[in-house]
Amino acid sequence: MNSVILIVDDNAASREALESILSGQGYQLHTAEDGVQALKQAELLHPDLILLDVMMPGMDGFAVCRRLRSTPALAEVPIIILTALDDPDSRMEGIESGADDFLTKPFDRQELRSRVRTITRLNRYRSLHEQRESLRMMSQRMVTSLEEERMRISRELHDELGQLITAQLLDIRDLQSDLTLPPENLFARLERVHSQAYEVAVKVRRMAHELRPPVLSTLGLKQALLTHCSKFSSSTHIPIKVDIEDKVNELPDVYGIILYRVLQEALTNIAKHASANRIWVEVSLEDRHVNLIVQDNGIGLPADKPTSGIGITGMKERVALVGGELHVRSGKTGGTILAATLPFEQKTKEEGETLS
Ligand SMILES: Nc1ncnc2c1ncn2[C@@H]1O[C@H](COP(=O)(O)OP(=O)(O)OP(=O)(O)O)[C@@H](O)[C@H]1O
Ligand SMILES: [Mg+2]
Repeated sequence: MNSVILIVDDNAASREALESILSGQGYQLHTAEDGVQALKQAELLHPDLILLDVMMPGMDGFAVCRRLRSTPALAEVPIIILTALDDPDSRMEGIESGADDFLTKPFDRQELRSRVRTITRLNRYRSLHEQRESLRMMSQRMVTSLEEERMRISRELHDELGQLITAQLLDIRDLQSDLTLPPENLFARLERVHSQAYEVAVKVRRMAHELRPPVLSTLGLKQALLTHCSKFSSSTHIPIKVDIEDKVNELPDVYGIILYRVLQEALTNIAKHASANRIWVEVSLEDRHVNLIVQDNGIGLPADKPTSGIGITGMKERVALVGGELHVRSGKTGGTILAATLPFEQKTKEEGETLS
């Protein structure tokens, strides 16, 4: 993408001179005639560089610079102050107002081009801005999904468990007022209360299971992954070849939850979309990475539509929480390959113990 440069100068001849020096260099050039216009343009364009004249009527360059630096979204934009005043005082004021560099008028064409090239090549501002933007989106999605999860749990507690427990309470009260019933009727009524209580117990267990897979704490990660694969395999009748290193059990808890949830979604996707009759799951540890690969021999990803539903986005976000990456692609000879790589410090659950 071409770097965007905003030229701010009240003098039309100076603006044209700068435009002519920088044109044909692959930049997108924009201009502003005074400080107020400059701030508006900066907010609109998020330029990669601002060339800012100092002597302007109204708001001078230093004031514009200070305003930009105090606007969070623009605080990192590189600014070169253009000054005819080649004296130390204005340089000092430029530094204090937050400029990154100076150029003294009249400009040396070569010097101007090379300074601009150096700054835009680094593209520091744009990449920072993009990183921040994607972090912001990710945290927004996390907050939204947390809220959705809370609403789901609250609905389930209210509509399902709440109703069942209320019905039981009413039944028990009813029974208390009717203790003279013949034993067989009493037995039938107690039986109903019992089966409602049983239903509550099942629902509570299911909800707790959804919140944190208990198999992770009881069985350890390797066994939990194996168990999930074998349950999946027997319900879908798709054979899975599983290869999981024993050492995964030594990974910190958070990795276990991430790997378990990613495997769950990857297998669900295979059942939903792949039409596969063979699956391979591999979890291996390298020096400072744990790798999860889930491959199938199905139809592969659709070529015509984007493949970023909630499932894949969610898996990527989970993996990104520990600085990892996840890619999903069609295999060269068919099927789909999901590969996640999670970096880890060589510390295990036990303080100081290493995985090597
Ligand atoms: N193993 C696979 N084989 C073929 N296509 C797949 C596979 N995994 C994912 N896809 C494709 O990628 C798309 C996106 O998957 P993703 O998990 O993000 O969303 P989804 O499964 O459609 O919906 P959700 O997961 O939100 O319930 C799917 O709709 C499907 O077209
Ligand atoms: Mg899915």
